[in-house]
Amino acid sequence: MHSSAIHRRKFLATSASALMGSAFAADKMPPQPIGIPLQQEPLAFDLHALEPYLDAATLRLHYHEYHAQHLLELKQALSSVELSVASVSSLMPCILSMPRPAVERRSLLQFGAMSRQASVKSVSQKLPQVVQDCIRHSGGAHVNHTAFWRFLSPPKSGHLGPQGKAAMHIEKEFGTFHEFKAAFMEAALNHEGSGWAWLVYRPDGRLVITTTYNEDNPLMKEFVDWRDHGRFILALDLWEHSYYSKYKNNRKKYIEAWWNVVNWNFVSKAHAIVTGIYSL
Ligand SMILES: [Fe+2]
Repeated sequence: MHSSAIHRRKFLATSASALMGSAFAADKMPPQPIGIPLQQEPLAFDLHALEPYLDAATLRLHYHEYHAQHLLELKQALSSVELSVASVSSLMPCILSMPRPAVERRSLLQFGAMSRQASVKSVSQKLPQVVQDCIRHSGGAHVNHTAFWRFLSPPKSGHLGPQGKAAMHIEKEFGTFHEFKAAFMEAALNHEGSGWAWLVYRPDGRLVITTTYNEDNPLMKEFVDWRDHGRFILALDLWEHSYYSKYKNNRKKYIEAWWNVVNWNFVSKAHAIVTGIYSL
């Protein structure tokens, strides 16, 4: 049951520094789970380091204002129901079904004479709609943007494509790396409005390209089609705030530029992690 995730579960507590720091030795590291802490990870690069492809001004607003504001709203929502989390990503699959454990604690303190039956009933209460909505939107935004930053690196700072098993898996599913990029581009361009494009490792072992609307992501199995559900190993922000300042409405030009700053070392690392999780 996913509710265990809200009690500081350890299995998703891998630190960002461990993930990022080991990204360049992907094939030498044992698989580790990916966690998203309830805080903004420091960017692993200078704001100017992705230029000319992604400009510093856009990154600054995107990271320090847009992402930060969503995290603030998420923290406030979780605090309102006394919910503590070790990894925000662990909330994603069970937003609608998650019980509200703090209610039981408060009820027992405030109503000591409450019958056992009544307290058990309170445990089954779901999170308030407003909290569910915030976890979906702001929690999703925090998870998605944390991933987006992790999958970026300065141009020519690492491999120019996936390596090892990740590369073989992509070729198996899409033919060639070039064909994969074309399919990813097509999916991202065909997505209307705000959202995200993903490379997803599904529980059945398939790698698929998909997009989601707004701040939804493939971890949200209550909201996405089963064919799109899984753990992502590449994330692209399709919201206009990601690119409008520099590329205006030319999303294609933005994506063509983004390919130059994809952290393929981390993609390979993420592939090793997620395939390790599902093979356990
Ligand atoms: Fe964004």
